[in-house]
Amino acid sequence: MDPTPAAHALPDVCDFTVFGGTGDLALRKLLPSLYHRDLEGQLPGDTRVLGVSVSPLDDDGWRHVVRSALATHVPASDLREEVVERFTARLHHLPLDAENPDDWHRLHALLKDRPRAEEAVRVFYLAVAPRLFGPICQRLDELGVADSQARVVLEKPIGHDLASAREVNEAVGRVFAESQIFRIDHYLGKESVQNLLVTRFANTFLEPLWNSRWVDHVQITVSETVGVGGRGAYYDNAGALRDMVQNHLLQLLCLVAMEPPTYVGRETVRDEKLKVLQALKPLTGDDVDRDTVRGRYAAGLVDGAAVPSYAEDLQTTGGHGGSLTETYVALKTEVQNWRWAGVPFYLRTGKRMDRRISEIVVVFKEPPHSMFPGAEGGTTPNRLHIQVQPDEGMKLHLTAKEPGPGGYRLRPVSLDLSYATAFQVRLPDAYERLLMDVMKGNPTLFMRRDEVEAAWAWTEPILERWAVTGDRPKRYPAGTPGPTAAAMLLERDGRTWQELDQ
Ligand code: BG6
Repeated sequence: MDPTPAAHALPDVCDFTVFGGTGDLALRKLLPSLYHRDLEGQLPGDTRVLGVSVSPLDDDGWRHVVRSALATHVPASDLREEVVERFTARLHHLPLDAENPDDWHRLHALLKDRPRAEEAVRVFYLAVAPRLFGPICQRLDELGVADSQARVVLEKPIGHDLASAREVNEAVGRVFAESQIFRIDHYLGKESVQNLLVTRFANTFLEPLWNSRWVDHVQITVSETVGVGGRGAYYDNAGALRDMVQNHLLQLLCLVAMEPPTYVGRETVRDEKLKVLQALKPLTGDDVDRDTVRGRYAAGLVDGAAVPSYAEDLQTTGGHGGSLTETYVALKTEVQNWRWAGVPFYLRTGKRMDRRISEIVVVFKEPPHSMFPGAEGGTTPNRLHIQVQPDEGMKLHLTAKEPGPGGYRLRPVSLDLSYATAFQVRLPDAYERLLMDVMKGNPTLFMRRDEVEAAWAWTEPILERWAVTGDRPKRYPAGTPGPTAAAMLLERDGRTWQELDQ
């Protein structure tokens, strides 16, 4: 049987090595997250954090860089000088030129020549380009530091398509067993995403309704106001389908659609998610033309400020701009199984949209019979809004009677659960939870190899069809809700995209 989460304990001694230690992810997310866990007293006393990068920093130099990253990315109220001191004392930096064997020997020495080296759980976090995953793992193997209790963490993207994902998985799998490989999808570390499991499976009232008999359709939206930032070179080769849908949106879809596992354990949840991915209606050929919409942002206004177009952003961030890369996708799919047959799942995601919001909306069917003839107002379908970010929470939209005599006046109202009000605690960043799970060796919230490959197998025909048709993505001005064709995708089915405050 799977070990329960309680069986996963933090190690006494841990070396947490970050390849890409001076990169954006390390400084913006990983180190602030580790700091927060240190602040909460959760980092084992004998934990070191080793940064590996090409930059020629010594320990003090990196500590200085990390200090200023903490000052930028950790709220001032959480910056306690004694904790910052304790945390930065754990940091060491190793400049590494991958082609230079001496540098790799220095890494070996750093990991081996330390007290209690034999007990140390080694975590290797690869916050670098995926083409380096295989070669780094091979080096770690040759150095003899990838022992049976070591763990490797892979940041997305895992490959660029199914074949390259398989290559990466093969190369990493030659060194590490699947149980040692932690493929991060940081959406799974978000509190509200984990709460989706609890809402569905620790309550009874939803389960009888959670199927094609009562659910009309499901919408999943991840809308961002940011553009491609400094990641143009990566993004222009990826696009929204690879960057967001293949992983984050499909993972959210899986959690909405999956069957209840026997218990929440390291393989059980992943087994059920895999079944959903395998049941997704394949989109090929004409289906792709009909059921997907691509867009790309033009110059516009976001939060009142003028922002450039995608092509202009690319010129300043290293892409070439002549591509057909999409910054927006909307699509319609279906989960072809007993529970969900016939229920459309509409997904959309885009950059430079009118607002930042990630949410799941489950829209229920109309009541089968109208019982209030002559009532003012009408019934509106019940909707469950699960707001992933910001302002994590949930809203159940109902129809109620407006108080007062003189007949029935039906009005939409909502039951509102705000995480901030209900719990009044700081919601940890997704990485805090996930990094601790890596240290504890708990892979439940990480993507298994078969999941990643199933997600690519579903995504690939869409990419292929887009390449064949060669159509340009539709233009949408920055700061708007995306191309009008995305609205048409629902309107032709007699539906509309739901907004939280509607
Ligand atoms: C990343 C994507 O995985 O997720 C980015 O590569 C995107 O393009 C980011 O901006 C969104 O994450 P979050 O947590 O801000 O919604």
